[in-house]
Amino acid sequence: MRLPKSTIFRMIFVMAQALYRKYRPKKLDEVLGQETNIEILRNAAKSGRLGQAYIFHGPRGTGKTTTARLLAKLLNCEKRRTDPEFAKRGEPCNECRECLAIDAQNSFDVIEIDAASNRGIDEIRNLKESIKTSPASATSKVYIIDEAHMLTGAAFNALLKTLEEPPAHAVIVMATTEYEKLPATITSRAQRFTFKKLSKTVIIGRLASIAKEERIAIDAAALELIAAAAEGSFRDAISLLDQIASLGIPIDLAVAERVTGRTGLKKINEFAALILAKDLKAALAYLAALGDDGVNLVQFMRDLIHYLRKVLSLKVNPALAVVFEKELTRDEIQTVARLAADADAEFLVRLLRTFIRAYSEMRYSPFAAVPLEIALVENLGAQ
Ligand SMILES: Nc1ncnc2c1ncn2[C@@H]1O[C@H](COP(=O)(O)OP(=O)(O)OP(=O)(O)O)[C@@H](O)[C@H]1O
Ligand SMILES: [Mg+2]
Ligand SMILES: [Zn+2]
Repeated sequence: MRLPKSTIFRMIFVMAQALYRKYRPKKLDEVLGQETNIEILRNAAKSGRLGQAYIFHGPRGTGKTTTARLLAKLLNCEKRRTDPEFAKRGEPCNECRECLAIDAQNSFDVIEIDAASNRGIDEIRNLKESIKTSPASATSKVYIIDEAHMLTGAAFNALLKTLEEPPAHAVIVMATTEYEKLPATITSRAQRFTFKKLSKTVIIGRLASIAKEERIAIDAAALELIAAAAEGSFRDAISLLDQIASLGIPIDLAVAERVTGRTGLKKINEFAALILAKDLKAALAYLAALGDDGVNLVQFMRDLIHYLRKVLSLKVNPALAVVFEKELTRDEIQTVARLAADADAEFLVRLLRTFIRAYSEMRYSPFAAVPLEIALVENLGAQ
């Protein structure tokens, strides 16, 4: 039987959605990489001291909406309220009616507002009307305002008074990737929680266990590449895994590279090592091979510049390694550190300067390889 293309796409989409939903953390314990935030919320829940206005801010896909929903479960979980054992744990039960409704996103008392498409004063007026009425069945009414930075100035103003004096049954959580765009009048009236990018090591660990559970055959190098490409966002990581798994073939580095459109760090490393060894012949040959393989050289150059920047940073100060833990594994950091140890800082600075210039030329050139080749000859040739 042959299925029409649109059906196949829809099937892939549904599969992707299922995987994505399936692994949304149901407990505070399952939220990765945000330990401080989770501890504070858990302790507040245990002692019955949760606040009424929160701002969760940080990069995309790091758990802001997830944590807001967990907060809603902490507030409304029936068992937590009635069972002292559960209250002590600081986790929702995930079995009661309220927990199940929140997980299924059909609780009447948890209201999610997408500020990106509901930016104006009318939406805030609706919120102000609805927040006055008591919860339908739970103890608290929780308003989650996603992409809060998109609200208009008038909408923010209309929200101020409610934020300052919300009804006793109401909690407002604003989630945003762009904290600076929130007016100070808003931020000063809420408890602020910063969500951090997840480290690559954490992403690799969790992706590996998900892949195992889903019987997705994927090797370590491919996992690493996906985690790096996700740049700290767990949503991006899991979506990439979904997308690649839907090919239905064993996933190795080559497959992952093809789908993420990104060249492996290992290649960048190999190339950087040739450059730093000032081996012009080998570097040009490597570049030609990359071109033959159809590697996107503009992207490769961008990654290379980022990489050399790290080498330079570690050259200047080896303690900076902690800064790169988000994007690199321990092994990778060691590799960069080895290159740094042997490199010359002045040479690195010169390289970076010319590479940055070459990069901007490459972006607009019909011969992407040429500016890079010239930069190589200029820097490695005249020795
Ligand atoms: N810290 C985390 N721990 C575990 N899983 C996470 C984490 N952050 C994100 N995820 C996964 O990514 C999905 C999306 O997360 P979530 O919606 O909470 O991100 P977000 O921070 O609200 O992102 P955005 O700013 O794009 O709205 C979740 O369903 C979950 O599977
Ligand atoms: Mg969100
Ligand atoms: Zn419950």
